[in-house]
Amino acid sequence: MKKIAVLVSGGGSNLQSIIDAMESGYLNIQIAVVMSNKDEAYGLTRAKNHGIPAQVVRHGDHESREEFETRLIEVLDGYGVELVVLAGFMRVLTSLFVNHYHQRIINIHPAILPSFPGTHSQKQALDYGVRFSGCTTHFVDEGTDTGPIIIQSIVPVLPDDTEESIGSRILKEEHRIFPESLKLWSEGRLLIEGRKVRILPDKSAEA
Ligand code: GRF
Repeated sequence: MKKIAVLVSGGGSNLQSIIDAMESGYLNIQIAVVMSNKDEAYGLTRAKNHGIPAQVVRHGDHESREEFETRLIEVLDGYGVELVVLAGFMRVLTSLFVNHYHQRIINIHPAILPSFPGTHSQKQALDYGVRFSGCTTHFVDEGTDTGPIIIQSIVPVLPDDTEESIGSRILKEEHRIFPESLKLWSEGRLLIEGRKVRILPDKSAEA
């Protein structure tokens, strides 16, 4: 079974959706470790509740981003992880980390990229006045939310939406497309061709 790591900084509802998908048998992977840069991240508790190793590497304990990432890599490689999943991990990763896990990092972003990258995407979308927003899973490259796109899902923006209401509508979709993206990856069905990700057919369905 393929081993992944999930990196979180906050509540970890996306982590929970991945755990639920594993426990229901939809997703056939192993979370080798959940890591956070913050002691108080509730995602760590979620991991422990499901018997998954959880570890903190504080960015504040390190003198530079590179030093922090070197420590992260040390721990992740120690667990033999093949894919790093960013599920609300609020640290920008430098080329040191991104190159080490070349095409082996997947992130989820609460907007339809390339619109509204970075932080507070839900507010950016509301302020801009778009009629639709949504979420995107993508491979991570050296830019901020710029890597090849795997799945997107669209939700309508309603007239009285607040950052919270649109955020929770988007989150529901995140919980659907994140496990789906990881399932495709675990089945070896994601082929990166330049900027594009080709989704290969499901061989088991053909038999
Ligand atoms: C999600 O909206 C995700 O797209 C963004 O951070 C949020 C994390 O939520 N990157 P949670 O911690 O998974 O509940």
